[in-house]
Amino acid sequence: MGKLIVISNRVAVPKARGAAGAQGGLAGALNSALRDHKGIWFGWSGEESDDEDNEISTQSHDGVTTATIDLSNRDIDEYYNGYANATLWPLFHFRLDLTEYERETGKGYERVNERFADSVAPLIEEDDLVWVHDYHLIPLGERLRSHGLKNRIGFFLHIPWPPTRLFVSLPYHERLVRTMLQYDLVGFQTVDWRESFLHYCSEELGAEVDEETGAVTLDGWTTYARAYPIGIDWDHFQSEGETGDARQAGQRLLSSTRRRTAMIGVDRLDYSKGLPERLDGIARFFDQFPERVSDLVFIQIAPPSREDVDSYRQIRAELEQKAGQINGARSEVDMVPIRYVNRGYSHAELFGFFRAAKIGLVTPLRDGMNLVAKEYIAAQDPLDPGVLILSQFAGAALQMPESLIVNPHSPDDLAYAIRTALDMPLAERQRRYEATIATVRDDNVKQWTDDFVSDLANTGLG
Ligand code: F6P
Repeated sequence: MGKLIVISNRVAVPKARGAAGAQGGLAGALNSALRDHKGIWFGWSGEESDDEDNEISTQSHDGVTTATIDLSNRDIDEYYNGYANATLWPLFHFRLDLTEYERETGKGYERVNERFADSVAPLIEEDDLVWVHDYHLIPLGERLRSHGLKNRIGFFLHIPWPPTRLFVSLPYHERLVRTMLQYDLVGFQTVDWRESFLHYCSEELGAEVDEETGAVTLDGWTTYARAYPIGIDWDHFQSEGETGDARQAGQRLLSSTRRRTAMIGVDRLDYSKGLPERLDGIARFFDQFPERVSDLVFIQIAPPSREDVDSYRQIRAELEQKAGQINGARSEVDMVPIRYVNRGYSHAELFGFFRAAKIGLVTPLRDGMNLVAKEYIAAQDPLDPGVLILSQFAGAALQMPESLIVNPHSPDDLAYAIRTALDMPLAERQRRYEATIATVRDDNVKQWTDDFVSDLANTGLG
């Protein structure tokens, strides 16, 4: 087998030894897979430049080469802010109300995928395995095939796949899915998203579908669709948990909350994460159990994201208002029930916060997987574990049924789950933790990478 070529919108460019690990679980695992296969990681530099010369900037470190291109202001607007994040993202998260359909951004999306293909194709040799990531780059495999590539090419979707009835609202939906059927292997986070994809292929395209093997055959070509639930970088996260930064972060949280139980949420500031609904559930808890207001402090960490997209600016404004209202009505001079923080923290600090917080609140309205749920459990003290409250609509709920599973749309459901978590006896907390920890530890991101790459290497070409 040749090299592994990973292609994604964002690339974690390693700066020094160990730096890749500090960039998050997926980046760390992909770097380790790339090291094993002497690979290349290609994508957008994150920079804007109006130079049209497709210049690739490369860096090599520890057996991994990263190769990046800049995008023009128009490309970023149409491809990243437009089609990827104002059309595909809301639609794939079941938010038809927020989905924008603009012909120009669709063209920009295709143009940038073409540009990625033009730039990366010369780096790919005959025996290389090519692994494309996420909704930004769905048509890339087909574009690479048009360059004459006969390599094994796989694709992994990190977000949900919508039901057929929603998906057909996308203009040219058929064209998009036909490009997916140029891959050899297509991976989804859960069996549910895979099932929706197979349903679309059979009902809308008339493809021959084998539910068991995931083989989808159309026009004489077979693509395999399988589920590969992503996990966390267990070893790296545990080692971060042993650092002084983790201990200090935990201490800081404990000393500032004193006798009250800390409940924590950590999410990119995105409407799919169910943050306003979460605050409504907390307000309902305070209303229904007024005697418990002083038992709880909720810490929401929400680093802003995709701020050039309207719907993201709106959700930020809505949250600021809601948090302000809840606090205004219930704070005392020495007590604020909700701490709302718009910044990110390192993995070590998050480990410390998760361990100190006796309730973890992960309540997305829709999520491909949700690794915060797994990190929360990974950070717990086995002798005195906290309780995870988890949305039934996160992919992670299928693997973690022993969490307190809630409907994030129901404030009552959330309010009762918070009370149950606050009052849960130690033996019950331990039982739930023991039932969940093995999947978090063993189904980790290294396993996920190995499973996908080995299936791709062994998949028969269509
Ligand atoms: O999980 C979906 C995803 O788009 C990833 O591809 C990305 O790393 C993450 O969300 C953050 O989004 P963005 O790259 O738009 O900041």
